[in-house]
Amino acid sequence: MKERIITSDFTELDVEIEKNLRPQGLDEYIGQQKVKKQMSIFIKAAQKRNESLDHVLLYGPPGLGKTTLANIIAKEMGVGIKTTSGPAIEKAGDLAAILSSLKEGDILFIDEIHRLQRSVEEVLYPAMEDYALDIIIGKGPGAQSIRLELPTFTLIGATTRVGLLTSPLRDRFGVIQRLELYNPEDLATIIRRSSGIIGIEMDDEGAVELAVRSRGTPRIANRLLKRVRDYCEIEGRGIIDLQTTREALDLFEVDAVGLDEIDRIMLKTIAEKFDGGPVGIDTLAAAIGEEKNTIEEVYEPYLIQLGFLSKTPRGRMITGRGYKHLGLETLMNNVLDLQQLKINFYDNEEEIDE
Ligand SMILES: Nc1ncnc2c1ncn2[C@@H]1O[C@H](COP(=O)(O)OP(=O)(O)OP(=O)(O)O)[C@@H](O)[C@H]1O
Ligand SMILES: [Mg+2]
Repeated sequence: MKERIITSDFTELDVEIEKNLRPQGLDEYIGQQKVKKQMSIFIKAAQKRNESLDHVLLYGPPGLGKTTLANIIAKEMGVGIKTTSGPAIEKAGDLAAILSSLKEGDILFIDEIHRLQRSVEEVLYPAMEDYALDIIIGKGPGAQSIRLELPTFTLIGATTRVGLLTSPLRDRFGVIQRLELYNPEDLATIIRRSSGIIGIEMDDEGAVELAVRSRGTPRIANRLLKRVRDYCEIEGRGIIDLQTTREALDLFEVDAVGLDEIDRIMLKTIAEKFDGGPVGIDTLAAAIGEEKNTIEEVYEPYLIQLGFLSKTPRGRMITGRGYKHLGLETLMNNVLDLQQLKINFYDNEEEIDE
């Protein structure tokens, strides 16, 4: 697959970017008001009771701030955090080792928690519920189970695919938070903060323009900001303004609402090959040569937020707005006529049957 400048996945380029720009405290964490307010209450309440925080599950599309929030929670609680990920824990013993290294009140952050192996997951259940490790010693009929006490700790799990979590695991989280795509206002605030940190001048119009083209995703906003800065420096302008932002993003083929080639191909395919839909996700994935997962996790949420795509029980449909964005109004009218024809046809058929 061609590397997309607007991929929301974590890339090499982001290592450097995210090191400096990642907010450190809840007050620097912009947007996500509901999540922030709730977490702030849970954190204060736990501190007041001198207890550890309930286990927290954070879910939502890539690049929205799950890892960031997990680290902020640790900082606000004033506790240590150990970070690992579902695919990194290969054996039940690996997880047991991590768990027994935790100190009282610590946070264990497991990224991509939906990718935990079942045998590993089973070690987590008693750990989350009773702060205990059940260890089996020996094999066969003589095998014995002994229980080891663990310090009370908080598990924070993050996932882009909450639907893939088993229900016993999901049920053991006291707090489940869904992160939403950011609105342009919040993204513009993030962009202004970031431009301050990397030391580049940017005006409000430039920030808003960049925000609108960043797919509701801070990671993309920060990456595009760096690319626009490069453009601005090479073009010899001192400040990132509306014109600079537009020129740079047009050059990078990020369109006025943040779509790139692949998004447009997907919408166009639905419009032209499937008469506007509904088309099943598997068929669509095959038609555009993309992974079904990537469509569901990455492309679709933003197209739905824009109102260009709708999800129905029978599949994906392009909306009137979607047609307009592609400049395919004529096709849309034809499709509507076609649908009307079909409706008339079936109506008549029923009459004949009677
Ligand atoms: N609320 C926010 N305010 C300001 N910046 C943010 C916010 N959320 C995220 N960011 C920025 O976006 C970057 C990506 O966030 P983060 O790595 O936490 O996303 P993620 O949800 O963990 O992604 P993934 O699913 O790929 O693991 C951060 O480095 C940070 O700079
Ligand atoms: Mg992350």
